[in-house]
Amino acid sequence: CGIIARIGHGDAAETLLSGLENLEYRGYDSAGIAVQNGSGVKVHKCSGEVDDLKSSLERQPHGNMGIGHTRWSTHGPPTDENAHPHTDTAGDVAVVHNGVIDNYDELRTQLQAQGHEFNSDTDTEVIPHLIDEYRQETDDTEQAVRKAVETLEGSYAIAAIVDGEERVYAARKGSPLVLGLDDEEWFLASDVPAFLDHTDQVIYLEDGDIVVLEPDNYRITNLEGEPLERSVDTVDWDPEDAGKGEYDHYMEKEIHSQPTSLANTIEGRVEDGTVSFDSLEPGTFENVDAVQFVACGTSYHAAMYAGQLLRAAGLPTDVIRASEYETAAGPVDEGTLVVAVTQSGETADTLDAVRTAAGHGAQTLAVTNVVGSTAAREADNALYIRAGPEVGVAATKTYSSQAVTLTLLTQRLAADVPEATPAEDREDLLETLQDLPQHVDTVLETSRARVLAREFMNSTSYFFIGNGFGHSVALEGALKFKEITYEHAEGFASGELKHGPLALVTDKSPLFAVYTDGSDDKTKTNAIEAQSRGAPIVAVGPADHPLVDVADAHLSVPDTHPVWAGLLANVQLQLVSYHAATLLERSIDKPRNLAKSVTVE
Ligand code: G6P
Repeated sequence: CGIIARIGHGDAAETLLSGLENLEYRGYDSAGIAVQNGSGVKVHKCSGEVDDLKSSLERQPHGNMGIGHTRWSTHGPPTDENAHPHTDTAGDVAVVHNGVIDNYDELRTQLQAQGHEFNSDTDTEVIPHLIDEYRQETDDTEQAVRKAVETLEGSYAIAAIVDGEERVYAARKGSPLVLGLDDEEWFLASDVPAFLDHTDQVIYLEDGDIVVLEPDNYRITNLEGEPLERSVDTVDWDPEDAGKGEYDHYMEKEIHSQPTSLANTIEGRVEDGTVSFDSLEPGTFENVDAVQFVACGTSYHAAMYAGQLLRAAGLPTDVIRASEYETAAGPVDEGTLVVAVTQSGETADTLDAVRTAAGHGAQTLAVTNVVGSTAAREADNALYIRAGPEVGVAATKTYSSQAVTLTLLTQRLAADVPEATPAEDREDLLETLQDLPQHVDTVLETSRARVLAREFMNSTSYFFIGNGFGHSVALEGALKFKEITYEHAEGFASGELKHGPLALVTDKSPLFAVYTDGSDDKTKTNAIEAQSRGAPIVAVGPADHPLVDVADAHLSVPDTHPVWAGLLANVQLQLVSYHAATLLERSIDKPRNLAKSVTVE
């Protein structure tokens, strides 16, 4: 879910609504705002997207302060009643919330016994009732917010407004909340793009912070009410980056911005054959004797890339799905480096895995796109992928920037860790990286992905295979395809195809065979086995591969180092998914049931 709040001079509604549009990547099941003016707190909310909310408003409500929410359902279906903001019985206190309240059931029973009436199935609704209850006890709203927050168990970023008070109250624990400071107005939001049009001056709030915003003043205190000093940071994202520009969809824009985002990722990090990162002092990793990558979704596929490179360098390496960390992780101690790969830096499963690892004494590193994110702040060190804001729910440019950053990290680790051996072709790897942005441009200019997407439109299933780096690309290709087309797609290691999945292969199941260099015989053999059962084969990779001659179609990538060839093949597959989804008229940027950043386990 995404939350926003604004206080200042002039009307708040427009800012809240446009802020929510920029937060919709966090959920789009329902949306709502509450504004406050001389005639009380007015709530407007409905199921559906922010656009539906906008069209449901006969005219924009007036009021210089307000809160807003866009929801990804956890407790209760996406109905009008379950949309935020939620209020107390009298409708005096309105609250938006991101997170999960674990003890809501018992609080609700308790509050109902005290006469509070509930209208939704959400865990959030206990919060305005609690604030109301404590207000009656203490006659002081700030005190009441503090007491309410102390009563809650679970995770939350909360913003609240109260009838008759020109203030926004907010608190955070375990869910992100950023304060935006403009000359004339203050903002609170789950993420910076919500208010980036207005200001780039931000304070990243910390767990336990309580904030009170007034039109000309803001205060941050701890749970005991003691004032806290928090530094103001300048965000270096361009507001242009957060818009759609000339493109139909954010995803399209983000695919096409990869030459630029990759150039940013690489800039200043490779010099004279040496990899260096500003945020990582030389020697940071000298005590590391094993590495575990933890990640979810697309980030997991990027981590697979790095895993392969590190294992080749002789360093014991595991790549673990964050949600499986508890059962899948082997021994962890002070010599283990646990690398959280997470675009948003807020994925609950990933954060949980890193916290578990840190509890065992592991060194932790966050590889993320979002400065000030929870992962970046909690890990011992942070490494930024510098891809710029990504709004489309299906990750594209951030996968490419993750894979590049992680590849560079592996070279840095191989240099730091005495037991590791740097890759023999290291020089070639780093040199050819400089051409990657240009090669991506070539793929974008010449791709035949749209033609193929149209040709295979009425298939029953779409299969993706690959070996080595190609395996992670195949998995990512299939994930992208199912995320945005809603068609059945699966990715496999090339050699596994014959051990079961082949039973699904027909002439209605095109197979995208990804390879990264001419020596990948496994992918060729297995693709041909599928072809002889009728499946059309699309070879995805450089031209000098024997599969190209026998395949039914070819999506070509420039000749380069196999590591980069995999990323270029992935760009081709991004385009296949994008075009297939547009032909099927899917909701490209907001695929059903998904959210870009899943902050619950
Ligand atoms: C969600 C998104 C995926 C994303 C995954 C991990 O499930 O829908 O696209 O890959 O989270 O996100 P992260 O921000 O940790 O990379």
